[in-house]
Amino acid sequence: MKDTCRLYTDLAWLWPMWGDATEYADFCRHVAGLIRQHAGRPVTTLLDIGCGGGKNILNLKREFTVTGLDLSPTMLAQAKDLNPECIFVQGDMRTFRLGRTYDAILMDDAISYMNCLKDFEAAIRTAWAHLEAGGVMIVTPDVTPETFQQNKTTVTSSIRDAMEVVFIENVYDPDPADEQYETTVLYLIRDNGRLQIETDHWTLGIFPLDTWRTVLRETGFEVYEDRYSQDGDEYTVFSCVKPG
Ligand SMILES: C[S@@+](CC[C@H](N)C(=O)[O-])C[C@H]1O[C@@H](n2cnc3c(N)ncnc32)[C@H](O)[C@@H]1O
Repeated sequence: MKDTCRLYTDLAWLWPMWGDATEYADFCRHVAGLIRQHAGRPVTTLLDIGCGGGKNILNLKREFTVTGLDLSPTMLAQAKDLNPECIFVQGDMRTFRLGRTYDAILMDDAISYMNCLKDFEAAIRTAWAHLEAGGVMIVTPDVTPETFQQNKTTVTSSIRDAMEVVFIENVYDPDPADEQYETTVLYLIRDNGRLQIETDHWTLGIFPLDTWRTVLRETGFEVYEDRYSQDGDEYTVFSCVKPG
């Protein structure tokens, strides 16, 4: 099936309804704590790579001066609306060059869009090029083969004024031996009770934890690992320090 990525293009207006930005507060506190724990330099600036609609940034900007980078102009416009005081840049995480460095970097769920090893390595190298010596990059795999739940389906609903939306998200790995899995989303959109059904599909990357460790170390990072739990799911969080 072809990738559609509609959530970041024509259906991007649904993104603010899929989880409130305040739901990201606990994760962002965890991220900020890890940055402070591992940094070998004062941290004031942070680059959020794959910032999407800026929900993480809404929480992180209390502690850091944040710049957001994303591929989608539509998502960047949402992020700017939510965080007018922050700087946003369009770019591809595999190749962008901003000509400057940051004290910290966050690569959250957007890293899943690196769906082959070559792209994954390119994104990690690009982040490295934008980090100060002594700075910390926090990067979190959404899924790894160690935790992947075949055919897991999650249902979330949201109401805003006369608009009701149900998000039905299914993950499936057709070939556990390769580096990809599929996310398929069904949107049930009711505007004043009138039903519209839309679908979406992505091919995302899935790499064993040992591949993560190898790529991060071979790029040059000192790598620290911890776990973060949310809604019954446990995620590995890598704190990656660029040696000074
Ligand atoms: C789930 S959203 C991120 C949401 C974000 N964590 C937040 O706080 O709102 C994933 C984002 O990854 C972005 N993305 C996908 N591929 C990318 C690439 N190659 N370079 C930069 N951003 C990319 C998409 O445009 C999308 O906005």
